[in-house]
Amino acid sequence: MSFPVAVLVSGEGSNLQAILDQLHGRGEVEVVAVASNKPQARGLERARRAGVETAVFEASGFADRDARDAALGDWLEERGVRLVILAGFMELLGAAFIRRFAGRIINVHPSLLPAFPGVRAIEHALEYGVKQMGVTVHFVDEGVDSGAIILQEAFAINPYSRDIAAIEDRIHEIEHRLLPHAVNLIAAGAVRIDPSAPRHVIVEEVGDGHD
Ligand code: GRF
Repeated sequence: MSFPVAVLVSGEGSNLQAILDQLHGRGEVEVVAVASNKPQARGLERARRAGVETAVFEASGFADRDARDAALGDWLEERGVRLVILAGFMELLGAAFIRRFAGRIINVHPSLLPAFPGVRAIEHALEYGVKQMGVTVHFVDEGVDSGAIILQEAFAINPYSRDIAAIEDRIHEIEHRLLPHAVNLIAAGAVRIDPSAPRHVIVEEVGDGHD
């Protein structure tokens, strides 16, 4: 049985590419839709090249954000999307959209949340002087990067070099593994929220001896 997913992008789309390369058409996961708020997003081109249907939902094309979100939601539902993946989608989605797809939206963020939510997370972490950085994949709720955490991976910063380009490369390398892994786990039914503690996401890794 296939597990149809959609990816929302605003720019480069390297995380979309990782999902296309590692998951799309290789097992259950099928990327059936890629949407952007920006017509020039490189991610749209990556999707077209993979034969995936694309659409642009520019805020300026609608009366307000709710109208845009509603049109986007309709387009995703018409395609039977079971998971909406935000991969560098740089606009907030309204509360109505979040409720409509409750528990079915995930995001990848380049920090160890709850530290450094929002934009320019890598720069903020470096300015702060952190010694560990990392990547978080989390469910999306109505706040900014505040939903329950699914997966995180940390790495130590080289104390002799705070070269931002090298750190960005390292972050991307982690993102391109962690996000597809999370999508695969969700498609396999291996991710669930503890009903008695809704912030606690239980992930059953294959071969994981832990509870
Ligand atoms: C990633 O670093 C992601 O963590 C952040 O936006 C960036 C998107 O990169 N949310 P790309 O468009 O997937 O290359």
